[in-house]
Amino acid sequence: MIKPEIQPLHPDFGARILGVTLSGNMAGDTLDFIRQSFEQHSLLCFPEQDLDDEKQLAFTRLLGTPEAEHVRFGQTGEISYFGTVGNIRDDGTSADPANARYQSGNQLWHSDSSFREVPSSFSILHAYEVPQEGGDTEFASMRAGYARLPEALRQRIEPLHVIHDYVFSRSPVAPVNPNHAASLPPVMHPMVRTNPTHGLKNYYVGSHARSIVGLSGIESRQLLDELLEHTTEPDHVLRHAWCPGETVIWDNRCLLHKGSGYDADRWRRRLRQTRVVGDEKGVIHQTPA
Ligand code: OGA
Ligand code: MN
Repeated sequence: MIKPEIQPLHPDFGARILGVTLSGNMAGDTLDFIRQSFEQHSLLCFPEQDLDDEKQLAFTRLLGTPEAEHVRFGQTGEISYFGTVGNIRDDGTSADPANARYQSGNQLWHSDSSFREVPSSFSILHAYEVPQEGGDTEFASMRAGYARLPEALRQRIEPLHVIHDYVFSRSPVAPVNPNHAASLPPVMHPMVRTNPTHGLKNYYVGSHARSIVGLSGIESRQLLDELLEHTTEPDHVLRHAWCPGETVIWDNRCLLHKGSGYDADRWRRRLRQTRVVGDEKGVIHQTPA
């Protein structure tokens, strides 16, 4: 393998990788390099990739088990491994305003699939068409946030568990289809996660985090908001302006991200997303009667 070039994107996390071509049949040492870089940098951007859905899914399978896209699965039971991000339908026509409303939920800081029993580890997002203005995606690291927490707060959050709930986070944004809602009961995850490769810790919050077990509603909301604000202080945000052909993979176990909006009546935006099922299993949470 010719050693790829790694260009850091932000002091906290993120790197651009040059000299790697993503596909479904990559050399073992290239894949090892990607895995190691991913554990270290949490976000990797690969410019000028010649992907299509088939290649993207094959690459996704090299990283782990693809995750069934939850909206289609919840609504119809059909399995598709792709999410379409932006304002263009799969047939190339413009999506309707209901889609724009649904997608605006992605403008809240979140970790993909944190509301699932097994949240995703990798998200893989490939850009086909991007607006000339706006449409950036912002990222922030809960590992970097944890590292700069005062010790007393680290100790306070260590034993906590958090309820993540898609219906809670998304129903204020757009109506959630009843079958979809029923497919995603609230789940409970530990507040603090440890990366199995290097042992660094992070907390795990975001818009789907509804409440903290054992705390009053107000205390729980205050702490979740405090951690979110702390993570996303402007100096700690990596703002990614997309170029067509870029593939970005990020670590949902420790990063938050959000869309930043754009004029959807003016610009076309089309990205395709796949996700990998993670390793850590939470529990379905039964709200006490
Ligand atoms: C995502 C996501 C936000 C955006 O792809 O998971 O939340 O529109 N994207 O940039
Ligand atoms: Mn997302």
